[in-house]
Formats: sequence, structure tokens, C-alpha cells
Amino acid sequence: MRVLFATSEIYPLVKTGGLADVAAGLTTALQQQNHEVTVILPAYQEAMRHLDSICELAHFSIHCCSTEYNVRLLRADSDSGVTLLLVDIPGLFDRPGNPYLAEDGTDWWDNGERFGLFSRIAAGVALNQYGLGWRPDVVHCNDWQTGLLPAFMRLLNTDAGSSSETDVDVRLGLPRTIFTVHNLSYAGKFSHALFAGLGLPDAWWSPEMLEFYGAFSMLKGGIVCADYVTTVSPTYAEEICTPPHGFGFEGLLRECAAQGRLSGILNGIDTQVWNPATDRYIPYTYSVQKGRVAQKERNKNHLLKTVVAADVKVDGSAPLLSFIGRMVEQKGIDLLIEAIPALLDETNVNIVILGSGQKNYEHEILNLARLHPHRVFVHIGYSEELAHLIEAGADIFLMPSRFEPCGLNQMYSLAYGTLPIVHATGGLKDTVIDASAENIATGTATGFVMLNASADELRRCCITALELYRKPRTWQKLQKTAMSQDFGWQRSATSYQNLYKA
Ligand code: ADP
Ligand code: GLC
Repeated sequence: MRVLFATSEIYPLVKTGGLADVAAGLTTALQQQNHEVTVILPAYQEAMRHLDSICELAHFSIHCCSTEYNVRLLRADSDSGVTLLLVDIPGLFDRPGNPYLAEDGTDWWDNGERFGLFSRIAAGVALNQYGLGWRPDVVHCNDWQTGLLPAFMRLLNTDAGSSSETDVDVRLGLPRTIFTVHNLSYAGKFSHALFAGLGLPDAWWSPEMLEFYGAFSMLKGGIVCADYVTTVSPTYAEEICTPPHGFGFEGLLRECAAQGRLSGILNGIDTQVWNPATDRYIPYTYSVQKGRVAQKERNKNHLLKTVVAADVKVDGSAPLLSFIGRMVEQKGIDLLIEAIPALLDETNVNIVILGSGQKNYEHEILNLARLHPHRVFVHIGYSEELAHLIEAGADIFLMPSRFEPCGLNQMYSLAYGTLPIVHATGGLKDTVIDASAENIATGTATGFVMLNASADELRRCCITALELYRKPRTWQKLQKTAMSQDFGWQRSATSYQNLYKA
């Protein structure tokens, strides 16, 4: 099958979170299953810096919001064999840094134009409007940044007079669209002025179509107009049909589910990049097969040397808790901040934290590190290398997310034998099996599951985990079960392939 995969980020070209990892992992796995995959993404400055041998396939101009934009479609090859198609609009994408945020941390002022126009052009590519001589069988869109793509495909196809929306014969010849929701809390809401500026029809400013509580939502465009909607874990597919996880879309999503147009496919992880046996960032590689899980201890010492100031004395034998991620409410970082003082009082743990996000959380975390320099180690920022060192060197990984569509770090943690403590939500619930007495006895336990997202429950769960940590034989059994789980992409890619075929 020919698949056009539309995404606003892809590892290693540009990454702010899990979507980048998914875009890379899934498209590579599909390519390995002999599908012909083209990834379309904006030609961000950051992404272009990583690419060489780029060639121009087409150039044209396009009108949007009273401006005439010059557009170039560029082609580049990726290491995985997947073709990259870059939409180059210098006025919109040739900027340094984060793909969504300006340097001061606020959204780029023109994100609506940027991703609206990107989706409009990707729809043109899908309908073979730019003379590329190629048309996909399936267009796979991701999150609000590509939500208007299925909407524009419907619009462009109707405008061209080639079919009416009900002309089944003609529609059968069109590429089919799948819209994957990675995070429903980002609705991509914009004004009526942008709606009109993008050339969307007046009749679509309605609750049945794109209008959403007085604005319009690009995410809603994807849900309403795509042939099929997926999300990134089975549990999240159920949760989003209910408040509060539905963020106002729950009614619409319940309808999708009733029409048989919604399901959850669990993400995979890239086992080349996240593999303790081959990880190029960690000094002491290990695996269950080689029986060298004890190497984690040496990785812990190395990690502590990396994150602790030279003149600070640390108890290296103490259990090490860890957190990596965006410092936003979704991730429960505030629950961790609240739980840390009691944890430090009641136990001998040390804690290592890597991430960035809301400034108030960053300040509070830094403050805890200042108060406890020999027990709380914090790196504010983004570091691929440190993320790998933490997964290899820590004993326990904390993910008290209020909601988590899938979550990747708990799967990385399982693969590295860094037992996760998670809240029973979304993909966390689908991937971690609680160390209850029964699950330990049957050999299925892989981590610790909190039923409520609260600071107190997090603290209690850490204490339960530490009790088992002091029983090395049980702990090692859990580690082995965790490390033996198969979260590689092939299984998920097969589910997507079956969906494409259907
Ligand atoms: P989300 O996409 O909601 O942020 P995921 O768990 O799906 O959450 O994916 C987050 C990805 O981003 C993981 O690969 C994680 O290791 C990475 N990541 C997040 N914050 C950082 C950071 N500060 N430094 C390095 N990697 C990070
Ligand atoms: C989102 C979600 C995260 C998921 C990722 C990739 O960013 O917050 O749970 O793992 O997308 O699908």
C-alpha cells in the first residue's frame, strides 16, 4: 500500500514528545512490512539542518489569509528508507527552535495559518494536485496540526467537481483517511477569521462540522471528516468517550464509536534506540539473556556522577527514583512535587528529574533540589543522552499522569528493568501490571499501579515498591518479567496495516 503519513514532528529531525517517536517507529515498521511510506512534514529550520541531498519536486504559490505564500515541495530520503516530503514555506516554517513555541514559551502567533496551510497543501498532495504523479491509498493524519487534512481532502475533491460527497463510486477511488488522536487536550482552536482566511465553507461553521464552543477546532476537523479515528491505546479509546477525558469531544467520539469508526491501537517503542543491550548512550550495557542486569548498579554510579555536583556527597547505594517528561499538569508533576518532602522524610531514596515545561513547576522542582542537594537532582531542559542514562541507572520510574493517551517512558522503563510506578489510566493501564501478591505469584507483575492520581497515593505506592526493592529475589523477578515484554513496533504496525486494508 502507498501511505501518506502526515505529522508535525518526527524523530530525529524534530521532536517535542512521543508523537515524534511514534512517527519514526511506525513508518519504519510499515516500510519493513513492504508498504511504500511517504512522510509529509513542514520544512522547519531545525529539520532541514539534519538533511542532505534534498531535491525540489514542485513549486507554486497559494493564497491564505490575504497573503500569497510561495511553496516548495522538497524530497529527502531518511535512513529508514521512508521518503520525506517537506512543505517549505519560508515565512511560516523557517524559524529557529521549537516547532510550536516562540522563544518566550508562548505559541507562535500564526500557528493556525502554519498548520492550516500545511494541511491544505498535504491534502493537495494526497489528491495528486501538484504534478508529483503519485497518489496514496491511505492518508494517515496525527493530532490537531493535521486535523484539517481530511477536511480539505473532502473540500478539494468536491470543489474539483469530480464527485459529490455521496458519490460512492468516485469516493471509493479516493485515498482513505485515518486520523490518530495522540492527545485530545490539544484541540487546535482558532478564530472565525482564520476559518474564513483558510477558505473553509461557511456551512462548515456548525456544531455538526468544525465549530467548537464559539471557535473552530482543527482536531474536530480530523474526527468529523476522517474515514476512521484511532487513538494510541485501547483504554484511552474508552476514556475519551467520557468526561473529563473527552475535553468536550466525548459526545462526538461516542458517536464515532457507535458507528464503528473509533478504536485504540497501542504504540510500540523503537527497540533499536531503546535497548539496554545495545544503547550507545550508556556505559554498561545489559540484558536479561546475558544475566547482567546487575550492571544497572554501575550505570547508577555513572548517572550520579553526571547529575550531582562534584563537591556533594551522595549515598550511592540508596534506591533511585526518576522522572522524565514535560512538566505539565497532565503528567502529574505537581503530585510528585507535593509527595517529595514526605518521601525524603520517610525513606532513604534519592530522586533524579529531567524535563521542562510550565515555569512554576520548574521553579518548585529547582527549589527542592536546592533544599536537598544530596538527594534531589534536577536537570531542566531536554537531553536525549541523560534520558537514556536515567532509564539505565535509576531503580524506579515515576509516571503519576492524570491522563496518558499511551505514554512511552513507562515502556522504555520496563525494557530497562527500571520498574515503573504509574496511575491506572490510558496506555499506562494497558502496559504495566501491578505487583500484587497474586500477580507476583503468577509471574506477570511488572510495576506498580496507583488507582488514584494523588500525592498521597504516589507516596504510598513508592513505599510499597521500596518494600519489594529490599527483597532482591522478588525485585529481580519483576525486572526480568518487565524486560521480557515485547513492545516492538511490529505488532502495532500490523494492526494499522489491517486497518488500512479494511
Ligand atoms: P508526551 O508525548 O505526552 O510528552 P510520551 O511518554 O509519549 O509523552 O513521550 C515523551 C517522549 O519525550 C519520550 O521519548 C521521552 O523520553 C521524551 N522526553 C520528554 N521530555 C524529555 C526531556 N526533557 N529530555 C529528553 N527526552 C524527553
Ligand atoms: C501524546 C501523549 C502520549 C503518547 C504520545 C504518542 O503526546 O501525551 O501519551 O504516548 O502522544 O502517541
